[in-house]
Amino acid sequence: QSPFSLSPLLPFSLSSPDAEETVAGIGIGIWIGIGIGGRVPRYTADMVRQRRWFQRPKTIDAFYASDGPTRIIAHRGWSARYPENTLAAIGAALDLGVNMVEIDVTVSSDHQVVVIHDETLDRTTNGRGPVSQASFEELRALDAGSWFAAVFVGERIPSLAEVLELCRGRSLLNVEIKPEAVSLDAPSLVADLVTTAGMVDRVVISSFNPTGLEQLASARPEIATASLLNPEYHHGQDPADVVGQVGSRALHVGDSELTPEVVESCHAHRIPIAVYTINSLQRLREIRSDVAAIFTDHPDRMLETTESFPTT
Ligand code: G3P
Ligand code: MG
Repeated sequence: QSPFSLSPLLPFSLSSPDAEETVAGIGIGIWIGIGIGGRVPRYTADMVRQRRWFQRPKTIDAFYASDGPTRIIAHRGWSARYPENTLAAIGAALDLGVNMVEIDVTVSSDHQVVVIHDETLDRTTNGRGPVSQASFEELRALDAGSWFAAVFVGERIPSLAEVLELCRGRSLLNVEIKPEAVSLDAPSLVADLVTTAGMVDRVVISSFNPTGLEQLASARPEIATASLLNPEYHHGQDPADVVGQVGSRALHVGDSELTPEVVESCHAHRIPIAVYTINSLQRLREIRSDVAAIFTDHPDRMLETTESFPTT
C-alpha cells in the first residue's frame, strides 16, 4: 500500500498505486507552487527595486566603474532618520538596499577602532571630552542615540569589527579614518580588522589625511583607497595628482569643491568621483552625469529617484 494512497479521499478510483502517487505528487507540487508563487514575484520585485540583484556591485572596482544609475552611499548610515554612525543607522541603510555605507572611525585610548565622527564625545553621546582619551569600555558605556531622539536611547558607539560584520554580504563599506586617528595607528588597525573580517574587496578606505592614506596604500596595496580632497593639503593641486600620489581608486569631494576643473581633470584621467553630502534631488539632477556616486543622509529619497533615471 502506497503511503500516498488517495483512494479514501477521491470520489473515483485510480487504475494503480503508481497513478495514485503521480496524482498525489502533482497535487503537492501545485499546493507548494501556489504557496511560493504568491511570494516569489513580490520578493523578486523587492530585490529589483532595492538593487539587491543585478544592480548590486560586488566589489569596490565594480562600484566605481558603474555606468548605470548614480551609486548611493549612505552617509554615516541612514543619518537623517537614525543617530549617525550607529548600528541602527547602518542597519536601516542596509535594509533600504544601498550599495555602500560610509562610516567615520577613530581610535580609543586602548587602541580599539570605534565608529564616531567628531574628535570629542560631546555632540553625539552623553559623554564629554576627546574620544581618544577614553577606553573602549568607557566608550561602550555611553549612550550614542538619545541626543538624536529619545526612542534611540541605548544605542552604543559601535566598534569597526561590529560594522564589518553587519555589512558583510549586504553592502560595500567606506571607512573614513578621521585625520587625528592617523597618528594613533588607525590605518594599520583598520587594515587588520578589514582583513580579519574577510572584507578586503568590499571596503574602501578614505581620509582627509593624505599621509596616512599613502602609508596605508603602500603597506596594504590590496585594500582600495579613495582620496578625500582636502583644501588644506591639496590647494591648487590637480585632482589627478592627488589620486595618483596615493594610487587611489576614486576621488571623494565636497559639493562645494566639485568645480568644472575637478570634473574635467577626473574625466580626462578616468577617475571616478563621489561627492558629499547631496540631500536635494535638484542638486542630484544637476551633477549626476559628472559623478559616479553621492553620499547622502537620505538614502531612501535618493534611491527612489536614481531608480527612475535612465541606466545609460
Ligand atoms: O567621507 C565623506 C564625508 O563623510 C566627509 O566628511 O565630515 O562628513 O566625515 P564628513
Ligand atoms: Mg565621513
